[in-house]
Formats: sequence, structure tokens, C-alpha cells
Amino acid sequence: MTEIISQINPNSPDFKTNYAHNQALAAELNARQNHVATDRSERVIQRQRNRGKLLVRERIDAILDQNSPFLELSPLAAWEMHQGDAPGAGIVTGIGRIMGLECMIIANDPTVKGGTYFPETVKKHLRAQTVAEENHLPTVYLVDSGGAFLHLQADVFPDREHFGRIFYNIARMSGKGIVQVAAVVGSCTAGGAYIPAMADETIIVKDNGTIFLAGPPLVKAATGEEVSAEELGGADVHTRISGVADHFAEDEEEALAKVREIVRHLNRRKQIPVVMQPPEDPIYPAEELYGIIPADTRQTYDVREVIARLVDGSRLSEFKPRYGPTIVCGFAHIMGIPVGIVANNGLLFSESALKATHFIQLCGQRGTPLLFMQNIAGFMVGRKYENGGIAKDGAKMVMAVSNVNVPRITLLHGVSHGAGNYGMNGRAYDPRFLFSWPNSRISVMSGDAAADTLWTVGKKSYFHQMDDPTESELRIAEVKFKAPILEQYERESSPYFATARLWDDGILDPVQTRMALALAYSITLNAPLPTDRFGTFRM
Ligand code: COA
Repeated sequence: MTEIISQINPNSPDFKTNYAHNQALAAELNARQNHVATDRSERVIQRQRNRGKLLVRERIDAILDQNSPFLELSPLAAWEMHQGDAPGAGIVTGIGRIMGLECMIIANDPTVKGGTYFPETVKKHLRAQTVAEENHLPTVYLVDSGGAFLHLQADVFPDREHFGRIFYNIARMSGKGIVQVAAVVGSCTAGGAYIPAMADETIIVKDNGTIFLAGPPLVKAATGEEVSAEELGGADVHTRISGVADHFAEDEEEALAKVREIVRHLNRRKQIPVVMQPPEDPIYPAEELYGIIPADTRQTYDVREVIARLVDGSRLSEFKPRYGPTIVCGFAHIMGIPVGIVANNGLLFSESALKATHFIQLCGQRGTPLLFMQNIAGFMVGRKYENGGIAKDGAKMVMAVSNVNVPRITLLHGVSHGAGNYGMNGRAYDPRFLFSWPNSRISVMSGDAAADTLWTVGKKSYFHQMDDPTESELRIAEVKFKAPILEQYERESSPYFATARLWDDGILDPVQTRMALALAYSITLNAPLPTDRFGTFRM
């Protein structure tokens, strides 16, 4: 029997307190996502309508197969940044099905500062391209953008991971046979012109679609030539004279239908490299997750209770359950897809790191995708553990995580601090996807630990400024010293702070996590497995 037997009592006061707390967090998440997706001034929406344009989400709906899911990435990018001027960073990215094929969609939102690129817009666009490249997803660009947000040019133009990288990525993906399709449904100015110009196949809409390296005002300023946008780079010019675009569309509907038509002819089929099982619901309802996750992030909980509400039949075939018990490893299925789970259940010790390393290698050898479930305060500290070589055991885990060939997905369902974040497949380890929960916290250490550490190293110079302080003055000084640090850590470890900066691919409502993970794993199965090659494991 591998079924997890839940020990949770849904009638206990703790469960009820947690439930109310986490349900409120989920409601807040949903409200924020709705706000970012839909709240625009009437003026801006009307302007789109008057031009015969669809809104960005209507465009996406029009190209997706009917009633098929859309896994949106980083919907809250740029949250509480730029004085609220860049909801969703002005771009919608995500994976959906077109003619039965999973495709990446990258669509500018012209209702956000003309679809121009803020730093987070660039980051979100590049992230979507990385996801497309790693998972071999045909990529569709719905272009409607004024290019760089000129006020922040230094943060979007010159560097390696800035605007120019978009076109490099298109070229590289095209070179790997990952199809690139662009539909120009609005402006496509300056460097942005390279999106349709670099794509494998490009559609442009009559009247609204324009492609040019410099718009009419800039041409006038540079050469004195007076020319209309249509004459400079409209649909007729580019499909009849310049050849920059391939297909002329009378209107948006026709352009979006043409995207589907192009995907229909890609002559491509997904090759499933794993042995699937018929999907099966977990025994325990997902809503109970609200009651399981403690309202107080410092409280511990048994990760098996979370696993039992994510995996098929609540079954987990545990590996080495008697050894290194602070990490739970085991095989399970999510909607029929096999996964190997590595989940913290307390601090990481040498034994837990060794067990995880062994298990990760097993998954690599069997081609089983991995799920890392992070609720990790860090590795165990102290002389006994350092002398026992905990650093080299953690290093083995990092070596295994970094080199294993199977897709890795990370779910941040609790806290994530210190080197634990690294060994557990944090963002720096290129998980195919990384999702968090609204209760999660991520920072180098907890606020309390940071305030204590900084007080320990900084109090001497602080005391020098005080003249023979009393005990109580010292205590007051300590509280005063620590207060701004605690406030900073509280603010910066919030999942909203993280998702705004694209440290993850989005915050998930715990109740919707199983579906999101299933979609994500299905997406990863598009790419063939590379051969894995581990480096030197320090013994
Ligand atoms: N940088 C910064 N802000 C820009 C911008 C840019 N490149 N392009 C547009 N904006 C701002 C506008 O100032 C306006 O701000 P507001 O709502 O606070 O008034 C908002 O975005 C919408 O622009 P607007 O011109 O009113 O909308 P539109 O739908 O009629 O036209 C564009 C959109 C993008 C076609 C048009 O604004 C344009 O051509 N912009 C310049 C593009 C350019 O030259 N880019 C160079 C990139 S290297």
C-alpha cells in the first residue's frame, strides 16, 4: 500500500484557523490577478474598439482551441512597480493548445503604455522564450507594441538580457526547428520590427498593422521625408512590395485564424517519452490544503499531507523512508504523468542530501520528471554537521540537480531560505517551471535570523556612538536597530515581491496547483531528453 493516510482533522480549531487564513490569501490572489488582467480605463478600451482591435486576452482566446486550458505565466509581473503603470508588465505570455499542439503565446498588451517594454516586460518576454526553447514549443507572437519604454532605456536596451536578446532567441529557436510565427496586429516599431522580420512566417493586418524601423515622426526628423504609417510599413507594403511579411489579413479575426492555419501545417507530433497511466483524482480534496498550511509560516507541517492532495490516488511510493527523514522522496503520478517527488520535511541534514542525490539519479536513469517541493529553512548548522561534511553532501545534491537530464519543476509551498533553495532546485537551477503559493516566503534567511546576524556583527560600532549605556538603553537600541531590517525582510520575502520580479513563473492558488502542474508536465514532454552527464561528486 502506498496510499498516504492523512492525519488531518478538518474539525480541529487549528485547521479552521488555517483554512480561513489561506482561503483569504487565495481570494486576494484571484482579485489581484483579475485586476491586472481586466482593469483598464474606459478611454483606453474604447480606443482599441474604435480601431477595430481586440483586447489582448480576446486575441489569445481566438487562437486557442475551444475550451482548452491556458497556462498563463507570471500574470503579476511588475506588481506594485512603476506606480502601477505596468499591469502584468504589459504583456501576456503562456502556453495553450492550437490545433492540438501546445504552443507558447507571447502577446503585447497595447492598453499598457502602447505595449511598450518596461524592464519586467523584457524579462517576461525572454522568460517565455526560454520556456518555449527548453520545451520545444512552437511560439506565436501577437505583436502590438511601441518598442522600448523610452524613459527606462538604460534598463531595457543595452545589456545581454535586454531587448536585443528577443531576436537572438528567435534566430536560435528557428535554428533548432522550433517554429516562430508572428501576427502583427498593431504597431511594431524600431527594434520590435525584427520580431516579424525574424519569424519563420508572418501575418500582418490591414490598417492597424505596421512594421518599420523608424516611425513617420522619426523619419521626418531624420531625413525630412513626409510619409504616412501605411505607406512606410503597412500591410500592403510588406506583403506586396518589401516581403517583410508573408500573409495579408483584412482584419484581426482573419489574422488570428491564419495563425491557426499555419500551426495546422507544422507537420509535428508530440512524442510522449514516459509511460502514462489513466488519471485518477487524489483521495483527499484539494480544498483541505487551505487547512493544512499553517497560518504562521514558522510552524512546521508534514509535507505528505500536501502530496496526498496533489497526486493521483494520493499514492506515493516512498524511497528510503527510514533514512534521512527530513526529506521525502518517492514516485507518484500527476494526472497520469509519472513524477519523482523530492520534498523537504524539515531542515536538510547530510543524510537527507545524500538520499535526495541518490533519488535524483534514479529519476534521471528512468526518465522520470522531477517535482521539488520547497519548504526549507536551510541546511543544519553547527560544528558537528560542518565537521561531518554537510557542505560536501549539499554540494552532491546541487551537482545532481544541476545535471540531471529530466524535466524539473519546483513548487514553493512554504518558506525558502539559504542553500536549501539551491539544493532544492531554486530559480538559479533552471527548473522548467517554478510556481509559488500565496503563503510562501523567499529570502536568503528569515527576517529574525537576518536581524540577529546583523545585530551580532554591527552592535559594536553602534555602541561606540552611545555613552556608557544602561541595560535598558541597550535593549531599546537593539529593537530600534532591528526594526527596519525586519520590515525590509517582511516586504521583500513576500511572494508578490518575488513574482513582480519574475523570480517565479506565477503564484498559484493551492486548489488549482494540481491542474497547473499537470499542464506544466505535459508541456515538458514536448522536448526529447538530453543525455545526462554528472560532474564530480565530492566524496
Ligand atoms: N516610451 C514611453 N512611453 C510611450 C512610448 C514609448 N516608446 N510609446 C508610447 N508611450 C506612452 C504614451 O506617452 C502614452 O502614455 P499616457 O497613456 O500616459 O499618455 C501611452 O504610452 C499610449 O500611447 P499613445 O500614443 O497615446 O497610444 P497609441 O495607441 O495611439 O499609440 C504607439 C501607441 C506605440 C503606436 C505610439 O505611442 C508610438 O508610436 N510610440 C512611439 C514608438 C517609438 O518610437 N518607439 C521607439 C522604440 S525604440
